[in-house]
Amino acid sequence: MSNPKRVVLAYSGGLDTSVCIGWIKEQTGADIIAVAIDVGQGGEDLDVIRQRAFDCGAVESIVVDAKAEFAADYCIPALKANALYMDRYPLVSALSRPVINKHVVAAARQFGADALAHGSTGKGNDQVRFEVGLGALAPDLPVLAPVRDSGMSREKAIEFAAEKGLPVDVNKKSPYSIDANIWGRAIETGFLEDPWNAPIEDIYAYTSDPTVAQPADEVVITFVDGAPTAIDGKTLSPLDIITLLNVRAGAHGVGRLDMIEDRLVGIKSREVYECPAALALITAHQELENMTVERDVARFKKQVDQRWTELVYDGLWFSPLRNALDAFIASTSEHVSGDIRLSLEGGRAVVTGRRSETSLYSYDLATYDEGDTFDQSLSKGFVQLWGLPTKVWAAREQRLGGK
Ligand code: ARG
Repeated sequence: MSNPKRVVLAYSGGLDTSVCIGWIKEQTGADIIAVAIDVGQGGEDLDVIRQRAFDCGAVESIVVDAKAEFAADYCIPALKANALYMDRYPLVSALSRPVINKHVVAAARQFGADALAHGSTGKGNDQVRFEVGLGALAPDLPVLAPVRDSGMSREKAIEFAAEKGLPVDVNKKSPYSIDANIWGRAIETGFLEDPWNAPIEDIYAYTSDPTVAQPADEVVITFVDGAPTAIDGKTLSPLDIITLLNVRAGAHGVGRLDMIEDRLVGIKSREVYECPAALALITAHQELENMTVERDVARFKKQVDQRWTELVYDGLWFSPLRNALDAFIASTSEHVSGDIRLSLEGGRAVVTGRRSETSLYSYDLATYDEGDTFDQSLSKGFVQLWGLPTKVWAAREQRLGGK
């Protein structure tokens, strides 16, 4: 590959991607265009981040507010898939990479770039998500990964920054590796690398201590065709719903996770997360599905949900299989409409009520009181036929002496 002339870099404002600007420029002589995507990570002001890229030598630096798009087109599909990797992790970082990739490629087209770059290391999932995703959106553009491929250790990065006078404050860097967006916050490394060490209160930013008792908060979430549309009767956008639930569920410590996770690259890692809105919404959505989705569809959808989740975790958001699974999920989400009441208390979101115009729950069939329309005499024959294969098998076992 000959040296690129113009490189678009997925820029976070942190040490690694800041050093990448100077590093790629020095190694290739290319002009660098830094693109920072706002997915609700909070923290530093994005204007400060934008200016830092210029100060590190970028010829252009842009910030894209992708929060509403991320909420509607990435978080809501994940909710419809009840996406919980290893039954727990709602894909926080995995979900944000595709929207970042989309805007990085859009910038590359706008500025006529001939290469792309990311700042991930060689040990995590994100290198896969960036490179596979960027490759799907721009198969014609090579992707540089200087942190992984140029032996840029943390020490070297700090040295390089000092040598070139790059404006990065290494002392401000926290001992943790944190990735955050509206769907949650991931905290790793530091003392958490010993899986026996309990998390300390300091590491959390979205959630309050769930053991500090306070009165429960009751919230009603309205869904239409699998997507949330209102909170407590007030119609809101997906972004506003997620933002509001992060505050309300976060205040009760909902959504804290501490787990050992299987990365795609084969490493087991210790991960701590806090995802108040994501967990509250998935809890409510699952319960509404229980009420509105036919039994066999519901059983099969569990497998689809899991496959969807693993695909997205593994960096295959842009893939024909996800498109096909999304078509299934769109079909099954029809009629997943109604209200779920949650009680937010002591670190948990507990369903306390559900109602739906499209419910498959029938009071007349379920009741043990007057008004029961279920014909119990039909059950007698059903049970006998259902148990027939077992009975025939058991009789043979008995005949052969119970072997
Ligand atoms: N393990 C999670 C994932 O792969 C979170 C990664 C977060 N990244 C970070 N730099 N802390 O999705």
